[in-house]
Amino acid sequence: MNQSVIIVTGAGSGIGAHMCEALSQIGHAVACVDIVESAAVQTAARVVASGGKAVAVTANIASQASSVSMVEETVAQLGGVTGLVNCAGISKPGDSLTYASADWERMIDIQLNGAFYAAQAVGARLVADRMPGSLVMISSTNAEAAFPRRAAYCAAKAGVAMLVKVLAIEWAIHGIRVNAIGPAYVETEMTRRNIEAGNVDRAQIERRIPLGRLAQPADVSDAATFLLSDKASFITGQSLYVDGGWLAYGYF
Ligand SMILES: NC(=O)c1ccc[n+]([C@@H]2O[C@H](COP(=O)([O-])OP(=O)(O)OC[C@H]3O[C@@H](n4cnc5c(N)ncnc54)[C@H](O)[C@@H]3O)[C@@H](O)[C@H]2O)c1
Repeated sequence: MNQSVIIVTGAGSGIGAHMCEALSQIGHAVACVDIVESAAVQTAARVVASGGKAVAVTANIASQASSVSMVEETVAQLGGVTGLVNCAGISKPGDSLTYASADWERMIDIQLNGAFYAAQAVGARLVADRMPGSLVMISSTNAEAAFPRRAAYCAAKAGVAMLVKVLAIEWAIHGIRVNAIGPAYVETEMTRRNIEAGNVDRAQIERRIPLGRLAQPADVSDAATFLLSDKASFITGQSLYVDGGWLAYGYF
């Protein structure tokens, strides 16, 4: 059987970087995609150095054309794509009364439009190749839980939760499953920057999460591994929250 080929966006850092290594370790070939070329190259080199099969692809998922090129380049280098894990994203908290239109548009462009363009490009290729596949979007607990100073982020992630439902029902006929994973705070560069900028208080988060810790990138890659696999063959249109109980907790 041919090796499965998974495109991982946002592969240059955090969840995406770890995702590439974790998927490679269980035998997937990975296209390490990032808007920052050097970051994509570094992740792909790490995967190859540890014995995996990987290529670096530079792309901007907020562009429809770039997302199509991302898939074409992957197919040219690794062969037919079988899945996507969309981890590319940004964070930019700010007061809604003064939030700049450029920041709003950039957030929606990357977190919502980008999720659609990446999924569309992979979905179209799978349909053209008459291949089944599994697409996983990294969403957030903020698809459900409102945080202050995160209107654009929360709105985009809520959009992703609905996006996976619509794509799932449209593409089920082609054997393509589409799901989201919604983590609570994950220990990554993004979170480190938010802690340093005073947007997030680590001790407060640990108290707020019933399981008492931040998520690790491996918590997210374990869930993605499951959703990509045939063990999840009857699961589509879902958001799986990897949040240590954050969303369940409604007490004081
Ligand atoms: N870190 C968390 O606590 C957390 C929690 C819930 C959800 N998430 C989500 O998980 C995803 C990954 O977060 P992370 O913590 O790994 O962030 P990160 O900042 O560590 O990594 C994000 C990567 O995405 C890349 N990227 C940004 N815009 C891109 C674009 N337009 N096209 C291609 N690549 C692009 C960046 O260059 C970077 O390498 C994001 O969607 C984020 O919203 C993160």
